[in-house]
Amino acid sequence: MASILDLAKYHEDLAELFFRHQTALLDGKVPAARAALQAYRKALARHILDEEEFLMPVYQAKARITPGGDVRLFKGDHVNLLKSVDEYEARMEGLDASKPDWQRKLLALLDEETRHKHILDHHDQRERSLFFPALDQALDEGARAELLSRCTLRAAGL
Ligand SMILES: [Fe+2]
Ligand SMILES: [Fe+2]
Repeated sequence: MASILDLAKYHEDLAELFFRHQTALLDGKVPAARAALQAYRKALARHILDEEEFLMPVYQAKARITPGGDVRLFKGDHVNLLKSVDEYEARMEGLDASKPDWQRKLLALLDEETRHKHILDHHDQRERSLFFPALDQALDEGARAELLSRCTLRAAGL
């Protein structure tokens, strides 16, 4: 049975991409950490676009929206998530594992990035408990499958 809740697997993929960025940082591999952060941002933006372009209009039109499930809250998180990644990318400019201030700068960046992980975590929980189940309830099997395939096609880069 098609379920919109299956889209939550992208959240796990996203968390894994962010983990790769942070482990590259821990290893002092700055170019790899930068590339991983860029790959993460691209995947995050694509998932957000799927939600805002395909899912939210249907959610607003058909789903029973409960407290905490307002699209403005989800969209606010999306803005904060993308903005904070841009900040980290800017902070990585000039970061050099061979410099004496490396450890200090690395710890400061990782501290900042914890904020991002908290937002991502809350966002995941609210989408899993409010957004995706309400869409599942509001749609029939055919409509769910159609929405899912649109999101999957974009994820495959088609
Ligand atoms: Fe999501
Ligand atoms: Fe989202």
